Amino acid sequence: MKNLFNLSSLSVEEINAILDRAQQFAEGETSDIAKGKIIASLFFEPSTRTQNSYSMAVMRLGGQVITFNTEVSSMKKGETFYDTVKCFEALGCDGAIIRHSENEYYKQLEGINMPIMSGGDGTGNHPTQSLLDLLTIKQEFGKFEGLKICIVGDVIHSRVAHTNIEVMERLGMQVYTSGPDEFKEDGLNYIDFDTAVKEMDVIMLLRIQHERLSSAMVMTKEDYNRQFGLNAERVAAMKDHAIIMHPAPFNRGVEINDDCVECEKSRIFKQMSNGVFVRMAVVERALKG
Ligand code: CP
Repeated sequence: MKNLFNLSSLSVEEINAILDRAQQFAEGETSDIAKGKIIASLFFEPSTRTQNSYSMAVMRLGGQVITFNTEVSSMKKGETFYDTVKCFEALGCDGAIIRHSENEYYKQLEGINMPIMSGGDGTGNHPTQSLLDLLTIKQEFGKFEGLKICIVGDVIHSRVAHTNIEVMERLGMQVYTSGPDEFKEDGLNYIDFDTAVKEMDVIMLLRIQHERLSSAMVMTKEDYNRQFGLNAERVAAMKDHAIIMHPAPFNRGVEINDDCVECEKSRIFKQMSNGVFVRMAVVERALKG
């Protein structure tokens, strides 16, 4: 079974194969590999982009999706996570897409006999977000080797940052981080934000993950915006070819100002569109086995 739990277990060749297939879908290639197939979309944490772009991907491949809502599910009667997923296998689903707040939730699912595609686990992995980020960078620059990226903000709680740092370094990118001291993680290359703005090929902003903070943030939103928010002045200081990325959802007026969200350097909505194409490649890979 071709599960997708993380990118660290995939070789560079496997990652490039998914990106190449996603690019073919972006250029209009079609497939009906999911015709007659039903995929369970099991999100135990909120999502707009990941859940719906996976659904778009399955439907574009000719398949159907069933969703469930934990709040009105039998989990309210004490059913476990494993038994919930096993139920969808027993119903006859051909695969499942799962997001869960627990890191490496998939280790609890060893008895499941249908392919599982991750929609993100805790602060650990968000493989399809990284794949869509990589596709966006490859479309822009045609390569990874030697590119400089700074990931800015709540790095310590971000599964996007953790997945991207590992895979981008493996692909030859120079990865830096920036942001408030409270979000710094040991062992990473830290750079002053205003220096990063001038020197990077890619500035990737992150949302502050308030839902994962153990106590209230020390810094106010206004202070955050002043020190680490992307504004028109900082955008003007970026290199001519440099781009802005954000996995979204973004908080306007905190990590990015209103007038920068759709500015000429922003690829934020391009990332969302690419999410459908990489998930088509991931669903196809899972169904082909
Ligand atoms: N980027 C991302 O994972 O967005 P959602 O939480 O809306 O899926």
